[in-house]
Amino acid sequence: MNRHPQLSSPAPGRPGDSCVMVIFGATGNLTQLKLLPALYNLARAKLLSPKFALIGTSFEPQDEGLFRERMVKAVKNYSDQELDQGEFDQETLDWIAERIYFIAGDVRDPEFYAALKARCAEVRKIHEIEDNHFYYLATLPSLFGEIIRQLGEAGMASEEGGHWRRVIIEKPFGYDLASAQELNTDIKKVLRERQIYRIDHYLGKETVQNILVMRFANSIFEPVWNRRYIDHVQITAAESVGVGQRGPYYEDAGAVRDMVPHHLFQLLSLTTMEPPVSFGADAVRDEQAKVLRAVQIPSPEDVLSKMARGQYGEGKVAGEAVPGYRQEAHVAPESGTETFVAMKLMIDNWRWADVPFYLRTGKRMSARSTEIVIQFRRAPLILFRNTAIEQLTTNRLVIHIQPKEGISLQFGAKVPGPVMKLGAVKMDFDYSDYFGSTPDTGYERLLLDCMIGDATLFQRADMVEAGWSIIQPALDVWKALPPRSFPNYAAGSWGPQEADELLERDGRQWINLT
Ligand code: BG6
Repeated sequence: MNRHPQLSSPAPGRPGDSCVMVIFGATGNLTQLKLLPALYNLARAKLLSPKFALIGTSFEPQDEGLFRERMVKAVKNYSDQELDQGEFDQETLDWIAERIYFIAGDVRDPEFYAALKARCAEVRKIHEIEDNHFYYLATLPSLFGEIIRQLGEAGMASEEGGHWRRVIIEKPFGYDLASAQELNTDIKKVLRERQIYRIDHYLGKETVQNILVMRFANSIFEPVWNRRYIDHVQITAAESVGVGQRGPYYEDAGAVRDMVPHHLFQLLSLTTMEPPVSFGADAVRDEQAKVLRAVQIPSPEDVLSKMARGQYGEGKVAGEAVPGYRQEAHVAPESGTETFVAMKLMIDNWRWADVPFYLRTGKRMSARSTEIVIQFRRAPLILFRNTAIEQLTTNRLVIHIQPKEGISLQFGAKVPGPVMKLGAVKMDFDYSDYFGSTPDTGYERLLLDCMIGDATLFQRADMVEAGWSIIQPALDVWKALPPRSFPNYAAGSWGPQEADELLERDGRQWINLT
């Protein structure tokens, strides 16, 4: 029996289709730090079609040879750990270098698209590439809509004769709910949803992808994955770095826009979604969107009582004194931008009713650590009535996303000795112990998926809008009530006291694992 086409995913391990990749905003950091190294890693793994080429575009004119040189350097600098030992693969690097082109132009100018279209045709001819294209938008977000409109007008977005056109859109997708909806409406005038790949690099992380495998390829987790056994869930994405040179962007974005509607909500939806009917793109994303729509939208009162914001002041990270946010480059001395946010969310469905989800993310925190903690309920106490409550352990499953990648399970055990004493012990699974480490920038899988037409790990319009809907009340309330206590946490700490109080009010505390 044939499977429904939408419900089957492409065969694993097949190389990308023959295509031309066009990067808009190619002189920016992303191309050098992530995209080129990822293409190199794909080429080494024989996952790039032999008929492939890359065209970089940018507003600033640049000599094509120089651009190529910069890209080659980027591969050497950022591809993987082996490079440190000088073991990079010169043949692959040369192969890639021969396929790098550059064209400068103003993305608002229709003539630029005519020139780009002609260049694409030339490049296709040189390398005998099929008429498939994907456009990677790594420009300022304010240009996304314009570029797609122009691609449409230049006839560069329509799929004809069995050839494909796809567009990868970097985050942030929108500035708030209204602008995300508007952008979706605009781009859908030109593209069908299946041509749109809204990227969230969190979905390129192995352990994030592993959440689905852990939950649905094993039979022991799913029966306890619900309100009956789980007391609460904590999702933390803590960074020890500050804003660095990104002040101009961050001042306007802040921690909520920068991290929550996409990265944190991806973790939330993968942790809480119902089993999809297959790993096909729509089946998985239907369930993610469904659970995001079930998250209670906070009222303005909830924003005040169930959300906390913070901004770092000066402090010490890993023993080194670091400046406060307001002293960073391009940051206003009185800035009211939040660099930390914590929130308690509830999901209104049968599986999760009454289970709180505590989410937090911040810059300049004590350590870099992204983790999902599933805290199980305490076992009935009857047998241990005479044991002090602090000695009674609970089960805790922790999914470590970074820097360590793995899963650990905490459970109670008897401490050896003549008296009945309980202690918490831990079973640890470390990804690299089992599988070793593979060169990975986090973009390999996502680029490959776009080249084979699998959008499972990309955000769909309804998911993006559901995410913005949940945080829109916080954006509104916090805009109306500028913070008075900033800075309210020291760099190198675990965030402001308000975030601790959020859990203390529920008789709980943050679990800081590192
Ligand atoms: C980006 C944010 O999307 O994600 C950054 O703009 C943040 O501010 C980064 O530092 C975190 O990504 P990762 O992969 O380092 O957790």
